[in-house]
Amino acid sequence: MSRPTNAPTPAPASDSANPMWGGRFEAAAADILQAINASIDVDKRLYDEDIAGSKAHAAMLVATGIISADDGAAIERGLEQVRQEMANGRFAFDVGLEDIHMNVEARLAALIGAPAGRLHTARSRNDQVATDFRLWVRRALERTDLELKALQAALIERAEEHAATVMPGFTHLQSAQPVTFGHHLMAYVEMIGRDRGRFSDCATRLNECPLGAGALAGTSFPLDRVMTARTLGFREPTANSLDSVSARDFALEALSAAAICGTHLSRLAEEIVLWSSAQFGFIRLSDRFTTGSSMMPQKRNPDAAELVRGKTGRLLGAFIALTTTMKGLALTYSKDMQEDKPPVFDAFDSLSLCVRASEGMVRDLTVNAEAMARAAGAGHATATDLADWLVRTLGVPFREAHHTTGKIVRVAETSGVTLDKLPLSEMRAIEPRITEAVYQVLTPERSVASRTSFGGTAPSEVRRQIARAKERFLR
Ligand code: ARG
Repeated sequence: MSRPTNAPTPAPASDSANPMWGGRFEAAAADILQAINASIDVDKRLYDEDIAGSKAHAAMLVATGIISADDGAAIERGLEQVRQEMANGRFAFDVGLEDIHMNVEARLAALIGAPAGRLHTARSRNDQVATDFRLWVRRALERTDLELKALQAALIERAEEHAATVMPGFTHLQSAQPVTFGHHLMAYVEMIGRDRGRFSDCATRLNECPLGAGALAGTSFPLDRVMTARTLGFREPTANSLDSVSARDFALEALSAAAICGTHLSRLAEEIVLWSSAQFGFIRLSDRFTTGSSMMPQKRNPDAAELVRGKTGRLLGAFIALTTTMKGLALTYSKDMQEDKPPVFDAFDSLSLCVRASEGMVRDLTVNAEAMARAAGAGHATATDLADWLVRTLGVPFREAHHTTGKIVRVAETSGVTLDKLPLSEMRAIEPRITEAVYQVLTPERSVASRTSFGGTAPSEVRRQIARAKERFLR
C-alpha cells in the first residue's frame, strides 16, 4: 500500500507495535483500545493454571520431538521462576501486554531468551485460555464441594442436638403442623447435597482438555493431545477443535449450579433473619455474627444472613451476564468471550463467602426451645392430628373428619384455648364419639412423635435420617 509522501515514517515495528504480533503491525494500539482490550487485571488470577498448561504443553513438545530437550528444560525452568515471582507477588504485570498469557511469555523471554519463542509452537491463546479457565473452574468446584460439605456437617451436628426440639412447621408462613428443628435443618442438608451433585456433574463434563486445538482448526504438528490432557489431570482431550475454543458451557453450568445453591443459602438466611427477630425469638446469634445500630441500642442485626440472601442476586446475575455474552456468538472464538472471567470469579468468590458465613451462623446460633415450643402449640397446629384420630379411631372418612375438626377449632378459637385445653364436653357436643384418649395426640410433642413415616418429623425418624445423611454426605 502506498502512503502519502509527507506522512511521518512509522517507527520500526519492534519499538512500538506489539511484541507478539508486531510482524505486520506498524503502530501501537490506541490508548482506548488498550483500555478496553486488556484483561490482565482480571486474568492474572489464572497465572498458576496458565503456567501449568504451558509446562504440560512444553513437555509434550519435547516428547513428540517438536522442540529439543534443551529448549524444553530451559522453558520449564523459566516458567517455574515466573510462577514463583507471581506467587510471591513480586511480578510487575504489564497492562501493555494485555493478558496473563502474554505477560508470562514476555517474562519467560526476558529470563531464558530464544527458547521462549518455541513455547507457542502449535498453540494459540484461544486453546490456552480455554484450558486455563477449565482448570480454574475445576479447582473452584473442588473448593466449593469442601465448603458445602463443611456446611452440611454443621447442619447435621445441630440437627442431632435438636432432633426432638419442637417448633412450628409453616406453609404460607402460617403455622401448619409441629415439626422438629432438627428435621427442619436436615431439609437444608438435602438441598445442599443436590447442589454438590450438580457441581460434581459439572466437574465431570468439564474435565476434557482443549489444549492442542490451536486457534480453531487444530495443527499440522504431530501433537500428543492425550499426553497434555493426562498431565493436566483431564480425562481426555476435547474431541472437536472448533468446539474446544468456542465452548464456555462448562462455566455456564458452574454458574447455574452456583445460582441454585445461592438460592438455597438465601432461604436459610431468610429463616435466620426471621427466627432471630424479636417477633419470632426462636434463635439468637452471638455478637460474633451480629452488628449493632449506631442509633438504636437494642438492635442486633443479622448482617451476615442478610448478605448471604443479598448476594444471591450477584450469583444469578453472573449466570445471566455470561449466557447473554455467549448466546449470539458465531463459532469460534470472539473477543466477547474475554468477558467470561469476571462473572465466574465474582460468583465463586461470593459463593465461598456465603457458604462459609452460613456454616458460621449455623454453628453459632443458640436455640430458644421454649419459644419454639410455645409457637408450635399456638394456632391449633395439631388440628390435623385430631382429624387423623377421628379417621383412625372412629373410621370416618378424612373429608368428614376435616369438617368436624374445623368446627371444633372454631369452638376452641371462640373460647380462646388451644385444642389440647378444650374440655371433652365441648368436643363431644360436636362429635359425641370422641373420648378422653384424643388428648394423647393433641400436644405438639405427641403430634411430632407420631409422624414416623419415612422422611417424617418424628425424632426417631429424624435420627435415622441423620445417620443416613452422615453416610451419604460426610464420608
Ligand atoms: N485474553 C483473552 C481471553 O481471555 C485470551 C484469548 C485471546 N485470543 C485472541 N485471539 N485474541 O479471552
